[in-house]
Amino acid sequence: MMNGKVVIVTGATNGIGQMAAQEIAAQGATVVLISRNQSKLENTVEAIKSATGNPNITYIRADLSHMAQVKQAAETFLSQHDRLDVLLNNVGGWFSERKLSPDGYEMTMALNHLNYFLLTTSLLDILKQTAAEYGEARIVNVSSGSHYQGQANFADIQVENGYGIGNKAYSESKLMNVMFTYALDRRLQGTGVTANVLHPGFVNTGFGNSDNRVVTFFANIAKNLFAKSPQQGAETPVYLATSPEVEGVSGKYWDNKQQKRSSKVSYNEAKQEELWHISEDLVERALQPVTVK
Ligand SMILES: NC(=O)c1ccc[n+]([C@@H]2O[C@H](COP(=O)([O-])OP(=O)(O)OC[C@H]3O[C@@H](n4cnc5c(N)ncnc54)[C@H](OP(=O)(O)O)[C@@H]3O)[C@@H](O)[C@H]2O)c1
Repeated sequence: MMNGKVVIVTGATNGIGQMAAQEIAAQGATVVLISRNQSKLENTVEAIKSATGNPNITYIRADLSHMAQVKQAAETFLSQHDRLDVLLNNVGGWFSERKLSPDGYEMTMALNHLNYFLLTTSLLDILKQTAAEYGEARIVNVSSGSHYQGQANFADIQVENGYGIGNKAYSESKLMNVMFTYALDRRLQGTGVTANVLHPGFVNTGFGNSDNRVVTFFANIAKNLFAKSPQQGAETPVYLATSPEVEGVSGKYWDNKQQKRSSKVSYNEAKQEELWHISEDLVERALQPVTVK
């Protein structure tokens, strides 16, 4: 059971994140939702409380594509809690037209990868402290089977070439989730904190809805025909966040609650380290105070 444990779920006002937050709340944990929309957050908190009878559900509002807000969300969490047992990085999006984040970065990379990187590294100390005090803490990163199409082309990390309808940016960002998890796992050896990454399956959520009506139309047909329910989509993240079966297991890619090989390039340690350093630079640049001349 998760009684007494504190869990963060990002992107928790819809789809997989919302369902995962609810399932984890049903097991008794204190759950903190991080998402961008105030009224959706309020409604989701109330819905989870009433579905589970667990009163310990709160939220922090943040646009997770904006690095200053990611940092602020971590600081708000740290001012309110003295332990963090599970960080479930789930938020993600696919954008049919190339656009920039508030920091001027390609949006898919900023939201799907840089946000995981900054939120996690900002919360590492409390995760380590929790593991030292209570025996373990877990980081669970939601990636996708689309990562198999990624090439780790960090020379064009802003996807300035061949953006198309967003597939390339999405696959690259989901490959970054896998490579970040492996690089993180190396840094966590001996701390009691584990890091795992997963594919949730093809899930019928708000995912893939875009400004492009044609894309949304076809995405919805595919979802209605082939996709899992959000509850089924939440099974693997909830398993990795809560199950005693995976205690101490780290640095693995999961699909359907089973370990699986991720793509060949994802295991390239030199590329993982390159990504780590690029991410540190991008985050540092985004967080630099603006000087007004
Ligand atoms: N669905 C699939 O078939 C599928 C397959 C493979 C992997 N995945 C991965 O699963 C994860 C969850 O996807 P989903 O299908 O559950 O998506 P979803 O239904 O679109 O939900 C995304 C959640 O993230 C929030 N969000 C979006 N942009 C945000 C931002 N800038 N700042 C803060 N919160 C933001 C959304 O808030 P609002 O409610 O305000 O929109 C919503 O709560 C993603 O990482 C995705 O890549 C999904």
